[in-house]
Amino acid sequence: MIHKPSAPTPMKGILLAGGSGTRLYPMTLAASKQLLPVYDKPMVYYPLSTLMLAGIKDIMIISTPLDLPQFKRLLGDGSQFGVNFEYRVQPTPDGIPQAFLIAEDWLQGSPCALALGDNLIFADHLGVSLHKAAARPQGATVFAYQVRDPERYGVVSFDETDRALEIVEKPTNPQSNWAVTGLYFYDNRVLDFAKQVKPSARGELEITDLNRLYLEEGNLQVERLGRGCAWLDAGIPDSLLEASQFVHTIQARQGMLVGSPAEVAFRMGYISADHLKDHAKRMGKTELGRILFDLASAEEKDN
Ligand code: DAU
Repeated sequence: MIHKPSAPTPMKGILLAGGSGTRLYPMTLAASKQLLPVYDKPMVYYPLSTLMLAGIKDIMIISTPLDLPQFKRLLGDGSQFGVNFEYRVQPTPDGIPQAFLIAEDWLQGSPCALALGDNLIFADHLGVSLHKAAARPQGATVFAYQVRDPERYGVVSFDETDRALEIVEKPTNPQSNWAVTGLYFYDNRVLDFAKQVKPSARGELEITDLNRLYLEEGNLQVERLGRGCAWLDAGIPDSLLEASQFVHTIQARQGMLVGSPAEVAFRMGYISADHLKDHAKRMGKTELGRILFDLASAEEKDN
């Protein structure tokens, strides 16, 4: 009998959109942080578009018991974008890697990417880097970005040959200014590794501790996002405003959308031009709806 090698299991994705958003009080006293507007779209659209751009079609959205119904209302079952959404509650914000424990039965041994619901990445050819990260058969991939205030983030330092040397969460004396962004790609051992992570001094499971397990076995790939890329985490009022201004500038100047899952779905071939037009009509008389409608019409003309 001939045994064909089995096709690799497709990567799944988790969008983590819980937490209490205390750094955005009073805006988040009665609303989920990840549903606040970043210019003309809810914040969660941006990391969702990133996961979809990586070719991931099975996505679990995790949020608080109070906020999850609002995410369901906004995103539905995913069919509007030609993908599948699952929803799970995180009862208390006990740490980012808890997402994998919550998703255990759904993951079924798949490799998995994780996107934080308040992180926006914008880069030329991002799709190519994301596809590479999603296709890597073993290990983990993270993306690093140079910042002025590394002490606010997970920080990765490098040796003289540019290999990742150390990764530390919110260090008081950062060894580099390379922050680890909130977008992570893991192989199918991620659940086992997540189970090994112990709560930190602040009582949380830290994503940096999970990444360190991959680093220690020589399996953490760190992709550096260079000049010309933008990474924004919209967790405080200043960065929320900067994120909105950034999206506005690009969209107004270039007439191109940033962070539109409908556009990504269309470009990835998940939805047809007709489907995109219906979606655009649901956006009413907005500029966003107009751009999506024009995109679908232009494609129809080309065919
Ligand atoms: O933004 C990138 C940074 O995100 C990384 O550089 C750090 O290594 C990583 O720990 C994280 O740092 P933050 O201080 O930004 O984590 P924060 O607690 O703010 O959580 C990030 C997002 O994840 C936020 O939107 C809320 C959500 N979250 C967080 C926790 C701890 C949850 O949904 N559940 C949780 O249990």
